[in-house]
Amino acid sequence: MKRPTIGVLTWREGKRFAEPAYFRRLLRAGQELGSTVFLFSPKDVLAQGKQVRGFILDANGNWQARMFDRPDAVFDRYRYTPTQAFKDYVAFRRTSNFLYANNRLANKWRVHEVLYRDERMHRWLPETFLYNRANFVKMLGRHSFLYVKPLNGTGGRNILCIEKTDQGYRLLGRDRQRSKISTVVKQVDAVLRYVDRWTRAEKYIVQQGLRLQLVPKRAVDMRLLIQKDGNGDWRVTGHGMRVGGERSATSNLHGGGKAMPVQEFLRPRFGDARTVEIVRDCEQLANQTAESLENHFGRMVEFGLDIGIDVNGRAWLIEVNPKPAREVFREMGAVQQYKQAISRPIEYAMYLARTKGQEEKEKKYAKLASRR
Ligand SMILES: Nc1ncnc2c1ncn2[C@@H]1O[C@H](COP(=O)(O)OP(=O)(O)O)[C@@H](O)[C@H]1O
Ligand SMILES: [Mg+2]
Repeated sequence: MKRPTIGVLTWREGKRFAEPAYFRRLLRAGQELGSTVFLFSPKDVLAQGKQVRGFILDANGNWQARMFDRPDAVFDRYRYTPTQAFKDYVAFRRTSNFLYANNRLANKWRVHEVLYRDERMHRWLPETFLYNRANFVKMLGRHSFLYVKPLNGTGGRNILCIEKTDQGYRLLGRDRQRSKISTVVKQVDAVLRYVDRWTRAEKYIVQQGLRLQLVPKRAVDMRLLIQKDGNGDWRVTGHGMRVGGERSATSNLHGGGKAMPVQEFLRPRFGDARTVEIVRDCEQLANQTAESLENHFGRMVEFGLDIGIDVNGRAWLIEVNPKPAREVFREMGAVQQYKQAISRPIEYAMYLARTKGQEEKEKKYAKLASRR
């Protein structure tokens, strides 16, 4: 069989790419696996997709353009930015008919709605509503701790949390530039005004706040990576705990969080047996989430899940990232997992290229049939 070609769809301006360091590793992984991986952006697709201008590395490690035939499969790594280029990409995804390893996922609210329809997911989902004043007031009556987050936010931006305390309401957050905000407001009216102002520019959700302070004064959560492997099956590649900066509302590594191995973190707090249970529950959560989302949104290749482990050891799904970073493994020095995290999507794309996506469909039908 001919060497499969895998296109990686991403943002490009000249020879600048969105994630150059990751893409270098991805191209190298492709080569080791026996495929040709190239980068392209929507504007590089010519002749209705029969020809694609692809970018690869030359012998000196510089980006070089070359014309390719239609790739055998495409890994979509185009990440959200509030720009016209992103809108063009969305339009492109609607009309292009490559064999995609992954579909697009919806915003935080839509994802919650879809998962909530699956009853098996309920025990892991924090109570969540679309933000408006009425829903916020309702949630404030039900929980003493709330999060307000933009539907399309990433990296811990524009997140605000509100905690009822004896002194009033403590507001803690990160603004557009990810700068920390911290203030105490006495009157509930002032809180409502503050949150209204905070949420003015875009749509938000309001979510039950989880008690994740396994380390005093720090937000701690788990990042779990679940990916398809070279047989088209979901596999948990690995996980790590992210420990946020002191008095930070978020644990994102971008915002100053630190990574450490999950077991090492949980054992001193919960003991051996409970730690095993918690990790198993997180893996079950991940498999269920992947299955449920794929049933609704179509084929997917990987998810980075933000999972909250509360002070009682209960796991909660905080966020699903369809185009996740892998840095948590590198931060922890988990070399093997880091390598797999990079190569698995290529292995899966190669599997798709080989089977044209047919085998996977059959497996899915067989699974559904066995459940009836
Ligand atoms: N409901 C919540 N309860 C407790 N902490 C939360 C909650 N929602 C978010 N966080 C904290 O904020 C971080 C960022 O929130 P997330 O929903 O993942 O948004 P982003 O897209 O910005 O990463 C989480 O990783 C977690 O540390
Ligand atoms: Mg997140």
